[in-house]
Amino acid sequence: METPIIQPKKIVYSGIQPSGTLTLGNYIGALRNFNRFPEDEYQCLYCVVDMHAITVRQDPAALRKRCLELAGIYIASGLDPKKNVLYCQSHVSGHAELMWILNCFTYMGELNRMTQFKDKSAKHADNINAGLFTYPVLMAADILLFNTSVVPIGADQKQHLELARDIAQRFNGIYGDVFTVPEGRFGKVGARVMSLQEPTRKMSKSDPEDTYIALLDPPDVIRRKIKRAVTDSDAEIRFDPENKPGVSNLLSIIAALTDQTPEQAAAELQGQGYGKLKERVTDCVIATLEPLQSEHKRLMADKGYVQGILDENAEIANRMATKMLRKVQRKVGFAERGRR
Ligand code: TYM
Repeated sequence: METPIIQPKKIVYSGIQPSGTLTLGNYIGALRNFNRFPEDEYQCLYCVVDMHAITVRQDPAALRKRCLELAGIYIASGLDPKKNVLYCQSHVSGHAELMWILNCFTYMGELNRMTQFKDKSAKHADNINAGLFTYPVLMAADILLFNTSVVPIGADQKQHLELARDIAQRFNGIYGDVFTVPEGRFGKVGARVMSLQEPTRKMSKSDPEDTYIALLDPPDVIRRKIKRAVTDSDAEIRFDPENKPGVSNLLSIIAALTDQTPEQAAAELQGQGYGKLKERVTDCVIATLEPLQSEHKRLMADKGYVQGILDENAEIANRMATKMLRKVQRKVGFAERGRR
């Protein structure tokens, strides 16, 4: 009898910043896709990227609290912490160590082209720090540290992922096949959820409150925000992002949450008014978020449990990271470590 060949599992890696309340954009563009990798084929790591968060000034107590809350959101969204590695970036020093090495393989010109850097430095003109500039290199380090194959993210992170791929290829070109070159995985619908008030801009937690739905918004707040969402004046429910950005955004939200295409969602609402469209969006959002919210509430009443998960998983992540880091350090010629 032939012995079956056991393929090593592919690594899936993603992260979310604990830098404010999470939005429906984070959920639809990223979080809800984290569950979609069969465990016999993939090992998934999901990180609370607190080191990324301090590129913008944070209140320390609030940041610490939000790290635990985000870990709670990961679990409440259905990620089993025994099967997925859920951990905090700052608990694994390999991120910063690999970042330093990768900094030396990244060009200033590449970083200068990053749109997120341009946006954030315009928004925080009084604090254009070096961390904001080299942020994409830290993200590349996060991904490459674990030999990641797949990175589920929203469309706004595509440029950063491309840079991570370029750095990996450049490094491999010099030292041989050290890094797996990662691929982005984007949802067919909802890779860019738009602002409720300015539907040509992406929904963002750093914009005013009425432009986004927070994952922990209570049902009445969700209802009110969607009711006030900007549509248009021609009253036709049709998916046409260019000419009808507001209506198309609402249709995409329904589609993403019900696993349909936006066209199917539009067909279901044919001939009805925008009031009905908004009711449908509200129902879908509440039906999705309510179970997540009640599970999150339960978890937050037992912070010790969540902290324990982060501690255990940081050990696993550290073991995985150290293996890769040592390989990279050897490749670039760092001094041998005595084996005592
Ligand atoms: P962050 O924290 O801004 O967002 C987390 C995830 O949510 C997605 N997202 C959206 N998707 C659709 N529509 C939106 N309006 C929307 N807003 C946010 C983001 O694309 C992202 O997937 N740099 C990253 C965090 C990061 C990371 C990583 C991700 C750090 N290291 C390694 C993947 C792998 C960021 O700031 O995401």
